[in-house]
Amino acid sequence: MEFTTGLKEFDDRFGEAFQPGTLMVIVGHPGSGKTSLALQLCNANAKIGHKCLYLSFQEDKEKLYRHARKLGFDLEEFERKGLFKHVRLPIMALVDDLIKELSAILSSDSYSIIVVDSINALLEPVKNRDEQRMILQNYFYEVSRTIKGIMILLAEIPLGEERVNLGSIEFVSDAVIILKHYVVRGLLNRIMEIRKLRGASLKAVEYPFEIVEGVGIRVFPPPTPERIFLGDGTPLKESLSLTREVIPRLLKGEVVFFTYDPFARSALPIILIFDYLVSNEMTAYFTSYVYSKDEVLDSIVKALTDYAGVSLEDAHKLVEKYLVIESVNPAGEALTSLYSRSILELEKFRPNFIIFHGIEVFSKLFDDKEYFNALVNELIWTRNHGVTNMRFGSCTPRDFCEMNASLSDVIVQVRFIEKDGKIIPIIQSWRRGTEPRTIELNEEVLNKLRSEFKVLLEKAFTSK
Ligand SMILES: Nc1ncnc2c1ncn2[C@@H]1O[C@H](COP(=O)(O)OP(=O)(O)OP(=O)(O)O)[C@@H](O)[C@H]1O
Ligand SMILES: [Mg+2]
Repeated sequence: MEFTTGLKEFDDRFGEAFQPGTLMVIVGHPGSGKTSLALQLCNANAKIGHKCLYLSFQEDKEKLYRHARKLGFDLEEFERKGLFKHVRLPIMALVDDLIKELSAILSSDSYSIIVVDSINALLEPVKNRDEQRMILQNYFYEVSRTIKGIMILLAEIPLGEERVNLGSIEFVSDAVIILKHYVVRGLLNRIMEIRKLRGASLKAVEYPFEIVEGVGIRVFPPPTPERIFLGDGTPLKESLSLTREVIPRLLKGEVVFFTYDPFARSALPIILIFDYLVSNEMTAYFTSYVYSKDEVLDSIVKALTDYAGVSLEDAHKLVEKYLVIESVNPAGEALTSLYSRSILELEKFRPNFIIFHGIEVFSKLFDDKEYFNALVNELIWTRNHGVTNMRFGSCTPRDFCEMNASLSDVIVQVRFIEKDGKIIPIIQSWRRGTEPRTIELNEEVLNKLRSEFKVLLEKAFTSK
């Protein structure tokens, strides 16, 4: 039976390198996630019938099981089924004794995954370390071959040290994974580096990851296929003339940037979004990076009542039916966790549209390169999944705004002008390959919008 990496994103990429007879080393600082990753490997492989033996020196069973439970793994259940066994080994000064003990345990059952947590603990009391290490290393190497399974050694890098001092185990092992974490703005970023993997082509080697309660470890690789394609390229239906005029033929999975002056921000384009949602019977996931949920709700309702002539009650009903609103403080999270949060939420809610509001805050929070790297990946992800991506942000700072614009298929800008003593919104839009458009929201346009929106509302409340 085949093995799994325990990470669905890795099975496609690296699954093939995960052959029977693999010696794998997972290296990292204290708290970097070594135990979590090893438990996940056991859990995922136990699920497909592989027996896992977990050898530890420091952690007792109770603690390990609790750790696993928090990650959503039920080790008790696997233990009952004979698919998981935890053994706490005493610390021994002689490698020979240790090998005897290990051999006895191994011969008592047929395990196909073995975890040693950790080799540091194991080597700690040993004299003549280099020589003994060689003996142990050969032993583990042999074991990985004889069990025709995966032997996983966890190795700790002491705090304050950066060098991985594994000796020659790096050379004999088939896979070396390094778990790193670094702090930006006081926030933890976790990175998994595949340092070595026999039998796999390594292009990207660093993967942001998160340890998620009840889920375990999730890695967030750059999206595949690496080629960018456009969802299924289906045009979205629209019912309002305004939508049709502002955005000619929006396709599923495209990116729209709604932008405005920082002094005159407008929620007006939300009307166009509701047109798409109702006309296509789709839902949207809305995340604001600047306002609370209530404030977002207020401004959406206000745009619907002010411009589209919707009653307060109907505006609330519309939001209720078509939007999930979330508000996130981006200063409270690392870029990798923001990125992973988006992806996890997309997977959970499976919306057809994803809407981000207040994206200008990213200009000062994250390093430009890092931000655009994550952004490009996210846009490819949504494109490839046919999720239409709508981004609201004030056009500031200019270079940041232009960069966002350059990554969008359609740019829609709302401005205000004064005409005959009245303030009138002007919508300007640009779509790749078409001429820019300007629409003035004068009385005539607004009246038409309101009467068309009535029809849209009926559709909204009669559809299921
Ligand atoms: N259920 C969970 N949900 C979220 N984060 C978790 C969860 N469990 C663990 N973590 C995070 O993962 C970190 C490290 O986990 P883990 O014990 O796997 O690391 P480790 O490398 O084995 O550490 P050590 O060197 O202490 O053995 C914890 O400090 C915690 O921040
Ligand atoms: Mg540990």
